[in-house]
Amino acid sequence: MRILGIESSCDETALALVTKTGKAFVIEKHVLASQIKTHARYGGIVPEVAAREHAEKIFDLLSEIPVPRDGQDIDAIAVTIGPGLVPALRVGVELAKCLAWAWHKPLVSVNHLEGHIYSVWDPACSTIPRFPALCLLVSGGHTELVFMKDHGVYQSIGMTRDDAAGEAFDKVAKLLGLSYPGGPEISRLAKEGDPNAIVFPRPMIDSSDFDFSFSGLKTAVKNYLSKYPTAPVADIAASFQQAVIETLVVKTVRAVHTYKPVSVILTGGVSANAPLREMLRSQILSPDSNRSFHVPELSLTGDNAVMIAIAGAVRFQNGHTADPLTLEAKPNLPL
Ligand code: KG4
Ligand code: ZN
Repeated sequence: MRILGIESSCDETALALVTKTGKAFVIEKHVLASQIKTHARYGGIVPEVAAREHAEKIFDLLSEIPVPRDGQDIDAIAVTIGPGLVPALRVGVELAKCLAWAWHKPLVSVNHLEGHIYSVWDPACSTIPRFPALCLLVSGGHTELVFMKDHGVYQSIGMTRDDAAGEAFDKVAKLLGLSYPGGPEISRLAKEGDPNAIVFPRPMIDSSDFDFSFSGLKTAVKNYLSKYPTAPVADIAASFQQAVIETLVVKTVRAVHTYKPVSVILTGGVSANAPLREMLRSQILSPDSNRSFHVPELSLTGDNAVMIAIAGAVRFQNGHTADPLTLEAKPNLPL
């Protein structure tokens, strides 16, 4: 089975051609145009600007995908329909609808968050997760713990009540005068700082649920900065990062004890954070358990179309197809 994946939910325009043989996926082609430089100027993503840039880039990217003009050697087209920025999503969705209609090929809608989860089915990951799996999904727009009993069967067991973890990284980076996106900047700077220099709050760490809250932590950094304007920035970055990571890890480990998954998946843009990967891995892979731990290859932690093609292939095999005349972008689509 050969799937064309299309992603345009935020600030990356991406297309991928993925084949599935048996249980294995092979990436034939993956192309991506990042808008980070454009949005860095504004310190965050401007939806209309994102949509314009998607529209400018998407046909060039399509021409790099090795499919004949009539699309006859592909089996289905998978596209992100949400969650995301509506003007941005529409660019990918409308292209997918046109191709499906013109090529007479099945169209498959994919939830962006489901896409992030399936990024660990990428062939570069040595083992694929078994079920039930627990997923910690941490991106710029979402922070969620998801219990996954089988392909396509999701139970959200906790989420952020305010800012997403990536959003907290981005906002704190702005307070520290770092550029957008803040996550990579803070983690780079944190390497030179002391994670125990400042004790920032670990929000909701003692609550009995699996929810998160990061906006108070951002305010704590802001208050600290106004009290100690000359404090070493690297120490603030490292201490903030430590607070986020510890909060995420403590809650995830608690969820593992409650839900007893056989696999744990860490995914989304923030899963690129090396100390987060290391701390969660060391807590999950205790010697007395046979749990497996899965993280995406670094190039697939951010938004990409490989994960959309893989999730689309699984959905297509489970019989999910969409109508190319009526499919719409759904900005608030839950998992
Ligand atoms: O999944 P993603 O590419 O886009 C969304 O779907 O939101 O996630 C982007 C987020 C941004 O907030 C970015 O700052 C964060 O992931 N991020 C990181 C790191 N790399 C990217 N956060 C912490 N540490 C990193 N190394
Ligand atoms: Zn994403």
